[in-house]
Amino acid sequence: MSKTLVILAHPNLEVSRVNRCWQQELLQHPQEITLHELYKEYPDWQIDVAREQQLLEQYDHIILQFPLYWYSYPPLLKKWVDEVFAYGWAYGSTGDRLKGKYFSVAMSIGNHEVNYLPGGSVQFTVEQVLAPFKASLHHVGAIELPHFAFFGASFQATDEQVEQSAVDYVEYIRNGSAVVEQG
Ligand SMILES: Cc1cc2nc3c(=O)[nH]c(=O)nc-3n(C[C@H](O)[C@H](O)[C@H](O)COP(=O)(O)O)c2cc1C
Repeated sequence: MSKTLVILAHPNLEVSRVNRCWQQELLQHPQEITLHELYKEYPDWQIDVAREQQLLEQYDHIILQFPLYWYSYPPLLKKWVDEVFAYGWAYGSTGDRLKGKYFSVAMSIGNHEVNYLPGGSVQFTVEQVLAPFKASLHHVGAIELPHFAFFGASFQATDEQVEQSAVDYVEYIRNGSAVVEQG
C-alpha cells in the first residue's frame, strides 16, 4: 500500500486535545504515514518551498490536518498553500506536479455536527466551508477524497471520544490509500 503524507498545521499543539491525540496515533504508523508538522518545521514561518514541493512529489495521497479556525485553515497552512502551490509548478502551462494526486482534509471542529447540517446555526455545511479547498484542488488538477472531521471539539468531548477518533482517523487514511492504489 502506498504511503500517505499528512501535513499537520496546529499553531499550539501543546494545548491541543484532538490534533495532538491524532498526531500521537499517526506516529505509531511510520510505515504507512509520513507526518510533516508545519509549525514545528517552520517556527519562523520561512517555508522552504523547494523542499516542500519535493516532499509532495513523493506522495500520491496527501492529507491536510488542522483545527478549523474561522471556517478556514490556520494561517501557516494558508501561507504554505500560497507559496508551495506555485505558478509553473502546480498550475500554469508547465505546472502539473499536483495533477492526479489525491488530497483530503482532516479537521477538528469546535462546534457540533448538527449545527453544520442544512438549516443549522452555522448556516453553512462543511462541504460549503471547504469550497476554497475544493476550488484550489480543481485549479491544480488534483482529486479530492472525502474529508474526515471530529465535531464538538470545543464542547468537552470525552477522552474516549477523542481517542476513538484517532483510531477512526487511521482507518480513514487506510481506506483513502486503498482508493489511491486502485487509481
Ligand atoms: C481562532 C479560533 C477560531 C476558531 N474557529 C472555529 C470555527 O470557525 N468553527 C468551529 O466550529 N470552531 C472553531 N474554533 C474551535 C476549534 O476548531 C477547536 O478549538 C479545535 O478544533 C480543537 O482542536 P484541538 O484540540 O486540536 O486544538 C476556533 C478556535 C480558535 C482558537
